[in-house]
Amino acid sequence: MAERLISIWVFLLLLNLVKPDVATPLLDEFSGGFSAAGNNLTLEGVAEVENNGVLQLTDYNSTMVLGHAFYSYPIQFKNSSGEVMSFSTSFAFVIIPQPWRQGGDGLAFAISPVKGLPGGRPGEFIGLFNASNNGNFSNHVLAIEFDTYMNQEYNETDDNHVAVDINNIISNKSAPIPFNLTSGRVIQAWIDYNSPTNQLDVRVAMDSAKPTSVLLSYKVNLSQILYESMYIGFSASIGLVTSSHYILGWSFNMNGDAKSLNLDKLPTPQLSGTASGTKKSQTGLIVGVSLLSGALAVILLAALTFYIVRRIKKADVVEDWENDIGPHRFPYEELKKATRGFKETELLGSGGFGRVYKGTLPNSDTQVAVKRIPQDSKRGLQAFISEVATIGRLRHRNLVQLLGWCRREADLLLVYEFMPNGSLDKHLFDEPKSILSWEQRFKIIKGVASGLLYLHEEWEKAVVHRDIKAGNVLLDSEFNARLSDFGLAKLYEHGSNPSTTRVMGTLGYMAPELTRTSKPTTGSDVYAFGALMLEVVCGRRPINPTASSEELMLVGWVWEKWAVGAVLDVVDPRMEGKFDEDEAALVLKLGLICSNDDAEARPTMRLVVRYLERELALLEEVAMPYKKKGRADAVEFEDYTQSFPTTSSMYDVDGR
Ligand SMILES: *[C@@H]1O[C@H](CO)[C@@H](O)[C@H](O)[C@H]1NC(C)=O
Ligand SMILES: *[C@@H]1O[C@H](CO)[C@@H](O)[C@H](O)[C@H]1NC(C)=O
Ligand SMILES: *[C@@H]1O[C@H](CO)[C@@H](O)[C@H](O)[C@H]1NC(C)=O
Ligand SMILES: *[C@@H]1O[C@H](CO)[C@@H](O)[C@H](O)[C@H]1NC(C)=O
Ligand SMILES: *[C@@H]1O[C@H](CO)[C@@H](O)[C@H](O)[C@H]1NC(C)=O
Ligand SMILES: *[C@@H]1O[C@H](CO)[C@@H](O)[C@H](O)[C@H]1NC(C)=O
Ligand SMILES: *[C@@H]1O[C@H](CO)[C@@H](O)[C@H](O)[C@H]1NC(C)=O
Ligand SMILES: *[C@@H]1O[C@H](CO)[C@@H](O)[C@H](O)[C@H]1NC(C)=O
Ligand SMILES: *[C@@H]1O[C@H](CO)[C@@H](O)[C@H](O)[C@H]1NC(C)=O
Repeated sequence: MAERLISIWVFLLLLNLVKPDVATPLLDEFSGGFSAAGNNLTLEGVAEVENNGVLQLTDYNSTMVLGHAFYSYPIQFKNSSGEVMSFSTSFAFVIIPQPWRQGGDGLAFAISPVKGLPGGRPGEFIGLFNASNNGNFSNHVLAIEFDTYMNQEYNETDDNHVAVDINNIISNKSAPIPFNLTSGRVIQAWIDYNSPTNQLDVRVAMDSAKPTSVLLSYKVNLSQILYESMYIGFSASIGLVTSSHYILGWSFNMNGDAKSLNLDKLPTPQLSGTASGTKKSQTGLIVGVSLLSGALAVILLAALTFYIVRRIKKADVVEDWENDIGPHRFPYEELKKATRGFKETELLGSGGFGRVYKGTLPNSDTQVAVKRIPQDSKRGLQAFISEVATIGRLRHRNLVQLLGWCRREADLLLVYEFMPNGSLDKHLFDEPKSILSWEQRFKIIKGVASGLLYLHEEWEKAVVHRDIKAGNVLLDSEFNARLSDFGLAKLYEHGSNPSTTRVMGTLGYMAPELTRTSKPTTGSDVYAFGALMLEVVCGRRPINPTASSEELMLVGWVWEKWAVGAVLDVVDPRMEGKFDEDEAALVLKLGLICSNDDAEARPTMRLVVRYLERELALLEEVAMPYKKKGRADAVEFEDYTQSFPTTSSMYDVDGR
């Protein structure tokens, strides 16, 4: 009887109907490539196994996509006494950057409690985590990343590194790789965990056997991080700058060295022709045609030239220099399709810089916001676009990511991440879309502060936003603040329209020195951020023309209340008293300090962030933020309105 049962079991096993719960410790079926991957590999995102057995995780022709490839069966990581066992894995990979670009983001070997990495996001998260689960101890994810993009905030050493990430994209330890990851050559990696010594070792090599020297060594007891049974696999992602990530072969072993890979036997990625290939064949065609004799050739050639010229005129304009710069260039047709032909119903807003449409990218279902900026002439366009490229390289969780751009005739199109909750002003003033809770408001303020600190101090060169205001703070699905339109005001200076080389800014947010110097600085951003903090707490605009003269200027009103020890009276009554008094007082005080007329007296964003995070305590007294001018204020602000037209928000059409 028992024998019969066993043979049925074996029969079902063969039929693939019953799978063993736990895979055999030695996993070497992929050590010669993935052609037999079959059901043993579970793919997600854009990952696919090519015909020749190469596992492709991402494709540089897309943006903001990820690929996951996980072994379909769980692996037992703990022995019967509940101790994590030693393990070893080896794999070969190739990273090919988008031609002319440096290539972005990276790939990782990951150990996860479930098959795949649910919720993992593309771009900087390498498909491993997302903004809400990042850093949560209940992730139980261990990843070794090979990253070609440097995110300083994630404690990464450079744009060509390996790092250990435990439950968090902020690396526990990171080390630069001594050779170029994006050279397109085959790279082999070895990851070994020695359980008795708690040592996790990573080695890499190009075209050679396993090196004796360890590139990165990290001491960690994995017993709290790994469960008894876990899934293993790969995750890769790209953002705005892109690469194709390939895994050529893979082996894994428990309690022993992973089988080494024979690089010569591994498949190689298929690379089809690039843009230069098509150019060549076109020239070939022209040469061929010109060899034809007689009038026929002349006529044909004329017709062909006419046709080509027309095609070029109608096509996206791409000049050589455009290939050398930053972010992803979208085909015009793709954006047209995404926004349903720039239909009015898809309009999210129209402001100082152009109209913004909602769109869905045809290939990835990613929702985007497409900003269409009209250009009057070609003059200055190159500077304009290289500035766009600069903006495209800025990355921070509190900035709206620029995904790419497109130029067509006189139009420049900028493609951004879509922010489902629209702009902050719609949640604060008049009849708000929703009443933000104190926790949400405080998180928004801290988010904007952190984004602004990044622009001012943490990026390779200081970027002045120039137009901080509630309308330029967008909210993602979790009400995290994301600054938009950074750098655009500067862009406009390069633009062709001479009437736009004026001080950009918005009434009530403009530091007084701007009227004298017309030169925006990080200090004038801090001033505007001060106004923003007050607005978020009070739920009022910085200037309320309809309010009594006492309340006309928000900063003046808050200061008067502060001076008489009743500052909490200004807190937005719509919160019905449900707020943290210490936090609200801190933000109001900081708002006043940042709103100081004297630029020298304003703190830097680094200090502001430290105050908000309570790493520093604010002094009790607050200097009067502005020079009292009595009734002259109103007149002066009228002047402002006339000389400096205000810009408007990215999303300023209601109800979308
Ligand atoms: C799937 O894995 C099992 C062992 O877990 C192995 O016997 C089988 O050959 C694999 N199938 C393929 C298609 O590689
Ligand atoms: C489990 O692993 C630990 C550490 O490697 C070892 O000390 C212990 O003897 C192992 N237990 C069994 C039952 O193999
Ligand atoms: C983040 O990932 C978790 C799974 O770990 C998921 O439940 C959550 O919805 C994700 N959040 C976002 C914003 O994608
Ligand atoms: C971590 O994740 C768990 C489970 O998803 C969740 O219950 C918990 O609230 C999260 N913790 C934080 C700090 O987000
Ligand atoms: C590093 O690893 C530990 C787990 O051992 C984790 O708790 C910690 O938050 C990780 N991150 C950093 C940045 O150290
Ligand atoms: C950053 O990385 C370094 C070395 O890679 C490590 O020593 C340090 O603890 C890390 N810091 C944080 C905050 O994770
Ligand atoms: C790495 O190789 C790629 C492709 O050959 C090249 O574009 C890039 O400049 C190289 N990077 C470095 C740092 O040498
Ligand atoms: C790892 O930590 C667990 C408890 O958290 C402990 O029982 C075990 O002895 C540790 N292993 C080593 C090798 O230090
Ligand atoms: C990207 O697109 C180009 C042109 O369509 C094509 O030749 C190339 O093979 C694609 N690259 C990849 C990695 O798919």
